[in-house]
Amino acid sequence: MPKINITDVVLRDAHQSLLATRMRTEDMLPICPKLDAIGYWSLECWGGATFDACVRFLKEDPWERLRKLREALPNTRLQMLLRGQNLLGYRHYSDDVVRAFVKRSAENGMDVFRIFDALNDLRNLKTAIEATKAAGKHAQGTICYTVSPVHTVEGFVRMGKELAAMGCDSIAIKDMAGLLTPFVTAELVKALKDSVDLPLHLHSHATAGLADMCHLKAIENGCDTIDTAISSMAGGTSHPPTESMVAALRGTQYDTGLDLEAIQEVGMYFYQVRKKYHQFESDFTGVDTRVQVNQVPGGMISNLANQLKEQNAIDRMNAVLEEIPRVRKDLGYPPLVTPTSQIVGTQAVLNVLTEKRYQTITNEVKLYLQGRYGAAPAPVDPVLQQQAIGKEDLVDCRPADLLKPELERLTKEIGSLAGSDEDTLIYAMFPEIGRTFLEHRAEGTLVPEPLEPPASNVSTSAPTEFKINVHGETYHIKVTGAGHKGQAERHFYFTIDDIPEEVVVETLDELVLTGGADGAVKTAIAGKRPKPSQPGHVTTSMPGNIVEVLVKEGDAVAAGQAVIVTEAMKMETEIQATIDGTVTAVYVAKGDAVNPDEVLLEITP
Ligand code: CO
Repeated sequence: MPKINITDVVLRDAHQSLLATRMRTEDMLPICPKLDAIGYWSLECWGGATFDACVRFLKEDPWERLRKLREALPNTRLQMLLRGQNLLGYRHYSDDVVRAFVKRSAENGMDVFRIFDALNDLRNLKTAIEATKAAGKHAQGTICYTVSPVHTVEGFVRMGKELAAMGCDSIAIKDMAGLLTPFVTAELVKALKDSVDLPLHLHSHATAGLADMCHLKAIENGCDTIDTAISSMAGGTSHPPTESMVAALRGTQYDTGLDLEAIQEVGMYFYQVRKKYHQFESDFTGVDTRVQVNQVPGGMISNLANQLKEQNAIDRMNAVLEEIPRVRKDLGYPPLVTPTSQIVGTQAVLNVLTEKRYQTITNEVKLYLQGRYGAAPAPVDPVLQQQAIGKEDLVDCRPADLLKPELERLTKEIGSLAGSDEDTLIYAMFPEIGRTFLEHRAEGTLVPEPLEPPASNVSTSAPTEFKINVHGETYHIKVTGAGHKGQAERHFYFTIDDIPEEVVVETLDELVLTGGADGAVKTAIAGKRPKPSQPGHVTTSMPGNIVEVLVKEGDAVAAGQAVIVTEAMKMETEIQATIDGTVTAVYVAKGDAVNPDEVLLEITP
């Protein structure tokens, strides 16, 4: 009998941590027969980020992925990460949606549900644990590990006991940021094993170079199962390598019983696969000990880096990493994991980019301060709370107790686009992109985002072929020729969806189409939104997408009134009227991508 069990996270957390969650099902299935033969305790393969990336970028049905993996891995437990009452989304769902989601996941092949709440508010785990047990599956209660003046070993042990009392089959310590140190791990694992009679799993990240040592200390102190990633997808912001841990324990009382040679074959397979996704590799791939100071999880660092790059503000990365702990303190020290990592991260980015802390407060921070995500681990900053929620009431019950059943409403809303509860749940998790996904699927127009060719073949010149997205439509642009460079007017020739066009430009700002292309394309290419120059010009502080335009031309607005809702980094932000007056122009519509140097709408005093 092997003493230590292994959960390999290569199909979920490893590519989430290293490759922005972009690994496609087609790259998982060929190796499944070999993965299935290893004898892992489980394979983690599903979670919020994989579900999101499937729908948003890969244009794959995440349920279809689950079914295919189930079929290809008949002998291995499949494991998922579930955000308690948030499921795989970013808000609290009503209990009927939580039950339906867990039931459908179980029916489609999920065995182990690792259930956590970002605030460690166990009320938010209750329904998901009950639903997992009702489906006859393994409910793993999760302790999100973090470091703060209010988090103690005693507190985590108390949580472990409560999770056992709630009916969990095992307990996981989830160290999403790689914050654990070896001797703290030893103390925490020992204390938990001494007081909770359940199998214990450890999930830690290699970011700070400490995870292998933590795993060993955990094993010495009674931990039953460790999470590892196949070596070619290990290290950096990912996890300790599976092969190394198997080798380290071989021939000892903790032997995993796994065949090192067989695992190495799997490792070679993913070594090749990883190259295909080189464009998504984060800049932070080595050991980064800053996490021991700023506590920012690996996935969050790569998200922040991408977000700042998009805004040409990557040089502000250090300022953002310094701001994050301050925002976290203001919010009562939440562990940084989805969705609190996004909530804290986005607010920190806003605080840095607007150069005035809390000048803009995201809707999510407001809801958080109201108690709508649950109880913060410590009291929040009262002045900020007052500023954010104004006269609105605080919530101190379990947030989902305030929610009416909503499955029926969601089913009605999505209508015939959904052919099953699974489809409805895609829409429930991601109302905007979920609906678009289902529409495109119905039309047969799902196109995954393109992958760059292998790094060695990348040319240094600008691309001559690319796709642009306007109002949800994708146009295929191909540059077919250009006039002489030195002249005052320069002619460019290209095709849009194979229709030839010609452009004459003096400066890029004036890029105007002369052919008969769609007006929306003209606007997008020409950058027709004016540059801000007056107080009545309403702009955004960060690039994002328009979720809603709350006013129309001719409306009277008051300074401070919400006029537009944008989405950036998966967080919604209200943009307010800059002055009192009348809306005289609206340059954006729902779904548009917008940038900070553009006027979104114009108010005339
Ligand atoms: Co993780």
